[in-house]
Amino acid sequence: MYIEKIKLQNFRNYSFEEINLCEGINIFYGDNAQGKTNILESIFLSSLGKSFRTNKDKELIKENENSAKVEINFFKDNRKEKIKVELSEKKIFSVNDIILKKTSEIVGKVNIVLFTPEDINILKNEPIKRRRFLNIMISQLRPLYIHLLSQYNKILEQRNNYLKQIKYENKNKENLEIWDEQLIKIGIKIFNYRKEFIEKINKKINVIHLETTENKENIEIKYKSNIENEEDYRKKIKIKKEEDIQKGYTSIGIHRDDFDIFINKKNVSIFGSQGQQRSSIISLKLAEAEVIYDEKEDYPVILLDDFMSELDKKRIKGFVGRIKNNQVLITCTEKFNIDNMVYNIYKVEHAKVERKGEI
Ligand SMILES: Nc1ncnc2c1ncn2[C@@H]1O[C@H](COP(=O)(O)OP(=O)(O)OP(=O)(O)O)[C@@H](O)[C@H]1O
Ligand SMILES: [Mg+2]
Repeated sequence: MYIEKIKLQNFRNYSFEEINLCEGINIFYGDNAQGKTNILESIFLSSLGKSFRTNKDKELIKENENSAKVEINFFKDNRKEKIKVELSEKKIFSVNDIILKKTSEIVGKVNIVLFTPEDINILKNEPIKRRRFLNIMISQLRPLYIHLLSQYNKILEQRNNYLKQIKYENKNKENLEIWDEQLIKIGIKIFNYRKEFIEKINKKINVIHLETTENKENIEIKYKSNIENEEDYRKKIKIKKEEDIQKGYTSIGIHRDDFDIFINKKNVSIFGSQGQQRSSIISLKLAEAEVIYDEKEDYPVILLDDFMSELDKKRIKGFVGRIKNNQVLITCTEKFNIDNMVYNIYKVEHAKVERKGEI
């Protein structure tokens, strides 16, 4: 699939702009604070229903305006389709002019893989950031997953409330099992999805990473969960029952999941250089793109925000060279130059995008 046109109206710093894209590599260059990342954000919003930078939709509307619109025209299976997002007091999504009942229905219509400089924090930050990565990837491919996650979170909250009621209001301990069983039933499904997808990523990521590091670095991703299977889940929840009651929260379950990345058997978040950490995340994203392709038989659009910084030329060429069939949007501050590659180049200045031709 590929995006043919982006229309922005009062979105971030844009008043009104139409951007025509090409099927291959599109490079947006320009000084800081001109509107490059905002373009990628508009695509992310249209694909996943929210921004990757903020939870407050109001911030997406141009200052002093009341509403914003984003429209994405794209080709999928040779059919022309469009997604519209209207932001005002409410957020309304439509696909081919049909308004969606729930925002989550938008997920999976346009598949994307985004890399931003902040993604390096996937490795350094708390596990919640890594779970978020897994959640975004899996929800694009398995619509049911989003539903399971929200069910799980509700049950978890209810269980945690009940734990506190046992402690402070002497509620019946036996009734806790009602929540336990529901939690296990949904949790194990999420666990299986995550396990499946990490295995799929692992089948791809090493090939990609070896190729971009001249065969020097072997990479592996390891899923960490405090449960192993359904039986183990049930057993551990029972063991921790008294402790959970004392603490007032649930210690066992997939809400504690995490993963680690290893390069040549060393944990990259501890031993990796800045560049290695960055490249391992890009390899992870490219592996994600390949998994999406295998599942959907359609190439996701790859968005690379500010992706040149901290990578040497060899790695840049390795990564870009590897992306052959996907539409790619790259933002950077300097004009990008790699030999033997064809790409469209755009200059972004004061929220205006000017096509500078093909190189
Ligand atoms: N709601 C808004 N209304 C008006 N302007 C906004 C709004 N939100 C963000 N901006 C402005 O948009 C500008 C461009 O942001 P963007 O993140 O796209 O820059 P960029 O070109 O990617 O820059 P950099 O190279 O620094 O990453 C910023 O100056 C920011 O202040
Ligand atoms: Mg930017």
